[in-house]
Amino acid sequence: MRLFLAISSFVSAVIATSRTTAPSGAITVGSGGTYSTIQAAIDSLSTTSTSAQSLFILAGTYTEQVTIPARAAALTIYGYTTDTSSYTSNVVTIQHSSSLASGAADDEATGTVINLAENTNFYNINIKNTYGEGSQAIALAAYNTQQGYYGVGLYGYQDTLLAETGNQVYGKCYIEGAVDFIFGQHARIWIDSSDIRVYAGGGAITANGRSSSSDVSYYVINKSSVDTSSGSTAGTGTVYLGRPWTEYARVCFQNTVLGAIINGAGWEVWSSSEPNTADVAFQEYGNTGTGASGTRASFSTELSSAISISTILGSSYTSWVDTTYLA
Ligand SMILES: *[C@@H]1O[C@H](CO)[C@@H](O)[C@H](O)[C@H]1NC(C)=O
Repeated sequence: MRLFLAISSFVSAVIATSRTTAPSGAITVGSGGTYSTIQAAIDSLSTTSTSAQSLFILAGTYTEQVTIPARAAALTIYGYTTDTSSYTSNVVTIQHSSSLASGAADDEATGTVINLAENTNFYNINIKNTYGEGSQAIALAAYNTQQGYYGVGLYGYQDTLLAETGNQVYGKCYIEGAVDFIFGQHARIWIDSSDIRVYAGGGAITANGRSSSSDVSYYVINKSSVDTSSGSTAGTGTVYLGRPWTEYARVCFQNTVLGAIINGAGWEVWSSSEPNTADVAFQEYGNTGTGASGTRASFSTELSSAISISTILGSSYTSWVDTTYLA
């Protein structure tokens, strides 16, 4: 039995599944496709029809800002890839440079992709805000429920991922930033089997802004890894798992490998004048790696068991989550 398991995991690790032609019914975008921009393809779709919609994006870099309006149908956006199993072979990138400092109306408006629609899935696409250091600059603003991101790469510096409302899942993803780069107020998110990469020290990975003790917001990071990104300047012990945007912030890192960049305290205050720590739930369970050791902040908790995905996304999560991207 042991031998059989070893062989089967070897086989699944070496055989990559590709998606190099459009799935049945998908509208194509890119060179040789029906539309040359992703926004034009989205705008061609009905927002009132309930028939499932899909786009297939050909390899390339799309320099545009994409807004997905609310719609009645489920929408799936697939990127061309020779390996669907994670982000590592992604060849489709959506990029845009915008920040609060460069004149966006508000933080959300800086988003390279602003997804306002329920029932949407992204597969094997990189989404980048290329503004860089110095101001809030969102790559993905996720504003609705039953949103799934699979093999997606999110790149930014400050505020990369705004997970604002609804239930959302991120599987086999890459999330890069330096300051408060997984943040938002009301969403329940499950990040699984993903690589969280930190570009510079001195900041926190998460900044949850759960609005009250009855707000449902909860961020859980399961079976992932936290480390430096390529080109990172983050030194040993210079990064925190989270800081509380509000005093009801609720975040758990579990079964995750924490690199040496994570400070021994694990978590930090929002600011010295406004610590916001009275009612936070900053939790850990089963983390390993150099960054998992140390004297943790007094306002954080070591749980006695892992949080289950159904606690976060509901007991019927398998009706919309692609569980092949979960550990
Ligand atoms: C979370 O991590 C644990 C331990 O690695 C794993 O067994 C579990 O399947 C993961 N995913 C979910 C959905 O609970």
